[in-house]
Amino acid sequence: MTAQHPLRGDVAVLVPAAGMGTRLGPGGPKALRDLGGTSLLAHAVRRLSRADAVGCVVVAAPAGHRDEVAAALAGEVAAPAELIVVDGGETRQHSVAAALAAVPPEFGIVLVHDAARALVPPSLVQRVAAAVRDGHDAVIPVLPLVDTVKQVDDSGHVIGTVDRSVLRAVQTPQGFRRSVLEAAHRAAVDALTDDAGLVEKLGVRVMCVPGSEAALKITRPHDLAVAEILLRAGA
Ligand code: C5P
Repeated sequence: MTAQHPLRGDVAVLVPAAGMGTRLGPGGPKALRDLGGTSLLAHAVRRLSRADAVGCVVVAAPAGHRDEVAAALAGEVAAPAELIVVDGGETRQHSVAAALAAVPPEFGIVLVHDAARALVPPSLVQRVAAAVRDGHDAVIPVLPLVDTVKQVDDSGHVIGTVDRSVLRAVQTPQGFRRSVLEAAHRAAVDALTDDAGLVEKLGVRVMCVPGSEAALKITRPHDLAVAEILLRAGA
């Protein structure tokens, strides 16, 4: 893939990392929690910056932790790639918007990656970046669903069975032509939507590429245990 795309370092990655992660239990901001001796955020930034495509990483740090985050990540982004740390916002969308505003003008492709997906493989970053470079305005990594999915009503009764074959679980990094992501954030009204969801609302088509099991989102204690096993296995 890189042979077809000789451009290097033309992508900026935004890393919203300002969430408290209450579903993981008590213990401070989620992105700063430990996984095998390193914070989730440092794992994520290290893997993102190993992708040749990445020339700039912008982290939205948890409130009150900006300097600590900048110091802790200083060795994780190898030159010529650049690390920028900004203050995160009240919601994920605010954190992404703050990071987006700090991207240097030369980057025309922007990826958004949740710090909670700490074990993202660099190959996934390359795949998403390549698809944007190939001309897709918005790109998301997806996995097929393994569970049967039911629609239920408020009383807990099943209304119907959803056709699983047309559904996908969505991961990050999500990739965008910069102008498209900026327009989507300018128009954003629904704080619950992901970045691709904001772009969909503009009527822009979103392309899917294969995701990765290693890019699981670390949300609950069970996910952290799975991530520890993956890390020990060499993820
Ligand atoms: O809460 P959730 O797990 O959906 O958060 C997804 C990502 O967004 C996490 O990496 C979290 O740190 C980040 N986030 C943020 N600013 C917030 C809330 C969440 O950067 N205010």
